[in-house]
Amino acid sequence: MLEVTDLHVSYGSVNAVRGVSMSAQAGRITLVLGSNGAGKTTSLRAIHGLLKAKSGSVKLKGKEILGQPSHRQVRHGLVMVPEGRRIFPSLTVEENLRMGAYTATRAATQKTMAEVYEKFPILLERKGMPGGLLSGGEQQMLAFGRAMMSQPEVVLLDEPSMGLAPAMVDRVMNRVREIADTGIAVLMVEQNADAALAIADDVVLVQRGEVVWTGTAEQAQADTALVHTFLGEAALGA
Ligand SMILES: Nc1ncnc2c1ncn2[C@@H]1O[C@H](COP(=O)(O)OP(=O)(O)OP(=O)(O)O)[C@@H](O)[C@H]1O
Ligand SMILES: [Mg+2]
Repeated sequence: MLEVTDLHVSYGSVNAVRGVSMSAQAGRITLVLGSNGAGKTTSLRAIHGLLKAKSGSVKLKGKEILGQPSHRQVRHGLVMVPEGRRIFPSLTVEENLRMGAYTATRAATQKTMAEVYEKFPILLERKGMPGGLLSGGEQQMLAFGRAMMSQPEVVLLDEPSMGLAPAMVDRVMNRVREIADTGIAVLMVEQNADAALAIADDVVLVQRGEVVWTGTAEQAQADTALVHTFLGEAALGA
């Protein structure tokens, strides 16, 4: 569904991403783990056309899309939920959702919005409220809902659990699992390895801009020494 091959991205002389390859398959969650500064966000932003890559290939359903602007990618089924959620705080929940559907017709937008409200009842409850007044967890649901408005086939998620209370983290992860279970391919960056491994299928470990390990979530969970080595003792809880 999404195939990233030998991606290189630099900030001036800083080679932040050095030959990263990863993929996402329909109905599966690929989890990208790595410590601070490993190049996770840089990779996602370059994949989505928000940063210029130096070289590499990004194929969506077999078609090369590297360098394509993000709005065009959204039209072809690839959407990103950025780090920090980036909802519009002064717009209502419903207006925020509508922002995610700018490519669709009005009738299609209404239909998709009804589906999003069905999946995220809290958003229906809060639909007239400014996005900025929602709790962190609710804002993350809104960011997911907004992404779903474009009826994506592949979703890029950058640290969906960031800044959330521990009790909320598992709920957000369960939502990610549900999104994948509808057949969407998910490529997710997370620092919260413990919670993310519980719902992930495939794992990519990134260190200093390079992929150092790939395997299944089961393999990563079984090999705690590996995860500790690359993410530190805090990565897998106590
Ligand atoms: N705008 C920028 N200009 C210059 N260097 C940058 C910029 N953004 C990131 N970097 C550097 O690129 C490297 C990768 O950063 P990136 O944000 O992709 O890491 P990350 O894996 O997402 O980390 P985190 O877990 O902190 O979100 C780091 O060394 C960082 O300092
Ligand atoms: Mg990041």
